[in-house]
Amino acid sequence: MTLYEFMKGGYIDSVQYPVSTGKEGNVFYATDEDGDPLALKIFRTSTSTFKKVAKYIEGDPRFRGVAGNRWKLIYAWVNKEFRNLQRYMEAGLPVPEPVTFDKNCLLMEYIGDESGPAPQLKDVTLDDPTEMYDEVLSFIIDGWKDAHLVHGDLSEYNVLVWEDQPIMIDCGQAMTNDFFNAKDLLVRDITNVNRFFKNRGADVIGLEKIVDEIMNGTDDDEEEEE
Ligand SMILES: Nc1ncnc2c1ncn2[C@@H]1O[C@H](COP(=O)(O)OP(=O)(O)OP(=O)(O)O)[C@@H](O)[C@H]1O
Ligand SMILES: [Mg+2]
Repeated sequence: MTLYEFMKGGYIDSVQYPVSTGKEGNVFYATDEDGDPLALKIFRTSTSTFKKVAKYIEGDPRFRGVAGNRWKLIYAWVNKEFRNLQRYMEAGLPVPEPVTFDKNCLLMEYIGDESGPAPQLKDVTLDDPTEMYDEVLSFIIDGWKDAHLVHGDLSEYNVLVWEDQPIMIDCGQAMTNDFFNAKDLLVRDITNVNRFFKNRGADVIGLEKIVDEIMNGTDDDEEEEE
């Protein structure tokens, strides 16, 4: 029914094939009325998804009053991913542009082309790992400072690489930076990203230095450390 609504609303013309099938949902290649690609993410409303989602939504002041109801909670989650994408977008940060959402379905810009979705960062050979690292790190820093968000699940799995640029996806669990747990999520994101890029031979910046820069706005030099 929701897909029918998307069609009636003129958002999509067809849903083609799954580009990813996961525990919490599937992502499909869809097309709009001009035949241009879109990504359609459909969340499962199973209890396992519910459990994962509940622990994030409960602490978020934007989502009071939905915690008890499984369906409502998944719908709120989709709404949250949509709004997070919008917020990143408005701050000029590289995420898929959100198009619309309803119930457990989210429609957004498709990253990739007819031959397939953009690869995940983990599967990409990097010519210049430090340059890619700097881009991803900028997303973390500007995400916090400009979009007032922390992604919370950033890793080589949730970064797609298209035309040598990283696009950050899977923004459902992103929290506003005033969330009580926001700093822990920030540290986790930086730790994941530093670990991945260090293995790839990038010049990574120390965790504490990054956190300090974000929290205190120190921007004094370009000094890099292990
Ligand atoms: N906008 C997009 N354009 C192209 N491919 C996408 C897009 N969004 C997601 N994908 C593909 O779908 C996969 C899963 O998307 P995402 O990470 O948002 O969902 P997830 O909740 O983590 O799902 P899973 O449980 O399968 O990991 C991505 O790794 C990517 O391959
Ligand atoms: Mg993911």
